[in-house]
Amino acid sequence: MNNLIIITLTSLLQQLSFCFYDNPCDIPENSRIRIGDSSIMVSNCNSGFHCYDSGYGCFLNRFQRSGFMLIEAHDCASNDILNVSHQSPTHCTDSCSTEPSCIATTISVNNSCFLKHKCMLPESNSQVFLHIRLRDNRLTCFIGGLNGGHQNTYEFHEKETAIATAIADGKTLVYRQNNIRLKTSQTLQDMKDDYEKTVCFVGNMIKDDSTGLITFQYNHILFDKQQDTCHIFKKQLFKVRFPWPTSNKVESNFKVEIFGQQLFCINDKQTFENKGIHVYTPIDYQVTAEFNGNFVSCSLTAQNSTFCNYSCLCNSVCQAVYIVGYDQFQTMKICEITIF
Ligand SMILES: *[C@@H]1O[C@H](CO)[C@@H](O)[C@H](O)[C@H]1NC(C)=O
Ligand SMILES: *[C@@H]1O[C@H](CO)[C@@H](O)[C@H](O)[C@H]1NC(C)=O
Ligand SMILES: *[C@@H]1O[C@H](CO)[C@@H](O)[C@H](O)[C@H]1NC(C)=O
Ligand SMILES: *[C@@H]1O[C@H](CO)[C@@H](O)[C@H](O)[C@H]1NC(C)=O
Repeated sequence: MNNLIIITLTSLLQQLSFCFYDNPCDIPENSRIRIGDSSIMVSNCNSGFHCYDSGYGCFLNRFQRSGFMLIEAHDCASNDILNVSHQSPTHCTDSCSTEPSCIATTISVNNSCFLKHKCMLPESNSQVFLHIRLRDNRLTCFIGGLNGGHQNTYEFHEKETAIATAIADGKTLVYRQNNIRLKTSQTLQDMKDDYEKTVCFVGNMIKDDSTGLITFQYNHILFDKQQDTCHIFKKQLFKVRFPWPTSNKVESNFKVEIFGQQLFCINDKQTFENKGIHVYTPIDYQVTAEFNGNFVSCSLTAQNSTFCNYSCLCNSVCQAVYIVGYDQFQTMKICEITIF
């Protein structure tokens, strides 16, 4: 009986509080969120406050949240949208991602959660943790915070204006923790210098193995809301990555609808033969967009030659959903992908 109570209390504490003075990396293996990027070195892992365990690799520390960049021991005074007491850190960041104007949260030792629309010049405060929001389904952002910088951040309206301009002009938005820039190129290869782990791009990442190009696009024919503009699959894989599919909803499940011609969609029990489309979500926390690693398939709930319906379930929050396909005969067309 005593044991049971202790276990319940401990798990309650882990859930409800940051336990500021405990070792932030002291997390049981089955509760860890692995940072599944093979390019991550121990040094990177440490410099970004992440945890490293040889034999396991890199994982998020107890204060970090998926889709938020942690700035430890910092506060951001005023500019509150809302404050809630007795909020768990996870609830705090989850509330932020369902509030369009929220760009950051602070949570204090006493579990008071503040949602912020602006966060300039964070100040040191050992009692408070600051999380900058990267979880937004219009943006491809990776973990951020590897440099552990403490600069000021953008404000909600600045972010929205930059995103709107990027979308209207077909440009790529590059925003860092401390500045926002627009780029005329949409290919990753042209932006090597910008592609570091604190940068976000507007749009979905597309990797076309027939050209080797990686682009970030918001208005691509596959998500332009028009079913008569289509992409013909080639012999090489064509991969699309949609970030944070549940970023603005409370539920952790979502649907993927694919419209096209001569479609052949597969589920997790099948493998590709001559052609096929597969939909899946990454399990590990990705720091760069890698199309390999540990994934879980979405389940195919309906399909015919012009339409496929998938149902996906996230373990609390999905960092992305991937749609991958190819066709040896080059006849399969994909015209529109809807995620909701
Ligand atoms: C939290 O919000 C309430 C109601 O809006 C306000 O009265 C209170 O001062 C706020 N508390 C803090 C610490 O900002
Ligand atoms: C909790 O801490 C915050 C920030 O330090 C403070 O504003 C708030 O009043 C505190 N709330 C309670 C209930 O003590
Ligand atoms: C495929 O299914 C969709 C959705 O149920 C339906 O609208 C469409 O007519 C079907 N197409 C064919 C070729 O059966
Ligand atoms: C796909 O499935 C979802 C629920 O499972 C449903 O709401 C939606 O209407 C389906 N789409 C089509 C075009 O049938």
